[in-house]
Amino acid sequence: MTFAVDVVVMAAGKGTRMKSQRPKVLHRLGGRALAQHVIDCAAQLAARSVVVITGHGADQVEAGLQPPRQLEGQSATKLQFVRQEPQLGTGHAVQQAAPALPADGVTLVLSGDVPLTRPETLRSLLDLCGGRQLALLTLALPDPAGYGRIVRAPSADGSGAVQAIVEHKDATPEQRAITEIYSGIMAVPTRLLSAWLARLDNQNAQGEYYLTDVVKFAVADGLSVQAHRITDAVQVAGVNSPLQLAELERAYQLRLAQALMEQGTRLADPARFDVRGELVCGQDVDIDVNCVFEGRVSLGDGVRVGANCVIANAVIEAGAVIHPFTHIDGEKLGVTVGQRALVGPFARLRPGAQLGTEVHLGNFVEVKNSTLAAGAKANHLAYLGDATVGERVNYGAGSITANYDGANKFRTVIEADVHVGSNCVLVAPVTIGAGGTIGGGSTITKSTDPGALSVARGRQVSLRDWQRPTKKRG
Ligand code: UD1
Ligand code: CA
Repeated sequence: MTFAVDVVVMAAGKGTRMKSQRPKVLHRLGGRALAQHVIDCAAQLAARSVVVITGHGADQVEAGLQPPRQLEGQSATKLQFVRQEPQLGTGHAVQQAAPALPADGVTLVLSGDVPLTRPETLRSLLDLCGGRQLALLTLALPDPAGYGRIVRAPSADGSGAVQAIVEHKDATPEQRAITEIYSGIMAVPTRLLSAWLARLDNQNAQGEYYLTDVVKFAVADGLSVQAHRITDAVQVAGVNSPLQLAELERAYQLRLAQALMEQGTRLADPARFDVRGELVCGQDVDIDVNCVFEGRVSLGDGVRVGANCVIANAVIEAGAVIHPFTHIDGEKLGVTVGQRALVGPFARLRPGAQLGTEVHLGNFVEVKNSTLAAGAKANHLAYLGDATVGERVNYGAGSITANYDGANKFRTVIEADVHVGSNCVLVAPVTIGAGGTIGGGSTITKSTDPGALSVARGRQVSLRDWQRPTKKRG
């Protein structure tokens, strides 16, 4: 494109039908605010700036949105906010943004509650605009009620020149029969837009300043108006209610699922799969049903994820298997699962869990801020927190690192080839020397020498022929 693009995102409306305290455009789709999808899309178009128009819940909306991530080899898209108080219509909204729009560019008008427009579609719209003329994104709907209708000059095939957009409430019965609707998205040279905005009035059924009136000004000025007619309704679908939000969530997830499957990822059921962030998969990855991926997750070649896993902010290396019902959340520290490691079922990996090659973690094992070297195993009912675990360590069922004294946290070091029996408590700070053995049921409070057997529990007492007390009668 030979012209700069400045995007206006309309986000001042109330969103009454969401029946929520949260402003509508901050409701989440795929883990991201609705309006954030729109802002991020602007960055994919290499837009120069994004101006978000806020009104209802403006403070919250402005705090809840971030500048888009800068794409490689591209200058950053600038994000700014403009307030619209009170809200007197879509034309009034864009009037508030006009001072922030440089006259040399093209303005692309988007809505903060329409999250799934594809960048390619907007690129086609901008091409049609060409920096010279007004271009509208339109769509034929079986039930166009409520939308602005595209009024065209009469022609045999319905592709006559666009003459106006008439809002549903202002439309005649004949106009209401038109099925081609205005999506709410337009591209317009900013110099022309500014002049037309100054001419808007509110003499209409709703007493609002309609942005859509710019079409009739363009026609009056002798300029032709282009329409880019698409067929994919999801791309222009807005969110007005929890039901619509859920419908678009499924549409979004299906898109992601299809993209992954096209690259070879095998999903047991694309309809039972959720990514709320970014998921990158290597070759031959299998994902069973009902898995949720959050934040940034990567799955290496040949990784298998069982049913009902939640995996967030983690790197799962090649050949690892995550068995069903496992919960992994690396939060800011991240989690790494090494090559060919086996995790779960019912395991929990928390921030800073770093599992080496072929580590095995079984059911009801929790690991936090701990490193397990290659071949270490903790197969049942155990806790490892703030621990450094050496190669080939075997950590018994029910054993715990007591890493917290109520005020401070301390590290436990378990050197290579140690065998920790069942039901042990390792009270940190403590080091278990390499190759050592800890007898089952021990509470270890002092560091142990390499190769030593350490037992710290009451000695067994057995009383012969012991008579159990009996219940008194009467
Ligand atoms: C608008 C169009 C209509 C189109 C429809 C597509 C006008 C006059 N009509 O309808 O032709 O078919 O979108 O969905 O433009 N907003 C503000 N400030 C305001 C009013 C609205 O920021 O004063 C925002 C809303 O938050 C929303 C967007 O603008 O994000 C569209 O507003 P909405 O009321 O949903 O659209 P309509 O005016 O009904
Ligand atoms: Ca309205």
